[in-house]
Amino acid sequence: MRRKMVAGNWKMNGNLSENKQLLNSVVASLDGLQGVEFLVCVPYLYLPSVQDVLQNTNIAWGAQNVSQYEKGPYTGEISASMLNDFECRYVIVGHSERRALFGEDSHTVAEKYQAAQRAGITPILCVGESLEQREAGTTEQVIEDQLAAVIKLAGIESLVNAIIAYEPVWAIGTGRSASPEQAQDIHSFIREGIEKRNVNIANDLTILYGGSVKASNASELFDMPDIDGGLIGGASLVAIDFVGICRALHQ
Ligand code: PGA
Repeated sequence: MRRKMVAGNWKMNGNLSENKQLLNSVVASLDGLQGVEFLVCVPYLYLPSVQDVLQNTNIAWGAQNVSQYEKGPYTGEISASMLNDFECRYVIVGHSERRALFGEDSHTVAEKYQAAQRAGITPILCVGESLEQREAGTTEQVIEDQLAAVIKLAGIESLVNAIIAYEPVWAIGTGRSASPEQAQDIHSFIREGIEKRNVNIANDLTILYGGSVKASNASELFDMPDIDGGLIGGASLVAIDFVGICRALHQ
């Protein structure tokens, strides 16, 4: 099922009391809105307290990363079954910050994608090109390779009802969003790439856009035919901004 979704990615931000304030105000503002899925992906340590606040609301919670391994001697890692203990329904995998700063290659990302699915958690698979890659004209190839790694390991069936986030690296945290047309071009490229392999899977795919989405540019992005919602970094930390983006998709 192709869904509409706004997902917040808090990254390494927040603290117990700020989180509570932020969520209380987001919960109150989004109460009763239906037809759009709302999600916040928070630092691991805050999952229990976030779960506490969001239980029985229309906002889901998830994590920003997961180990590719099930259990064992992997110091500092968190497994998918641990995320299940806190009722995470979603986890981000392959965020460009993980790829660039923590050395995750596309094969590792594919393993994480598979580990999440095996535990019944929906992975949100991030793909996107750097500025150098865009300028060199290799954007489509980069994205095709990132998707192909998942299909190679987990099979095309692993993309049934999947969520992919297109996040051009040059647009993340820079205040410089892709234009609606630039984003739509890549979203349709992604959908068509999957369509060549399986039409039904392509039709059901949810493709989020991420990279400097704000309340002021969200509507024009969400109006594009292949943009099903957003993955929101900075603006997800400010209640009024996040709510504005959520409302833009709801309209
Ligand atoms: P941004 O981040 O909205 O702050 O650009 C998006 C992301 O990294 O998911």
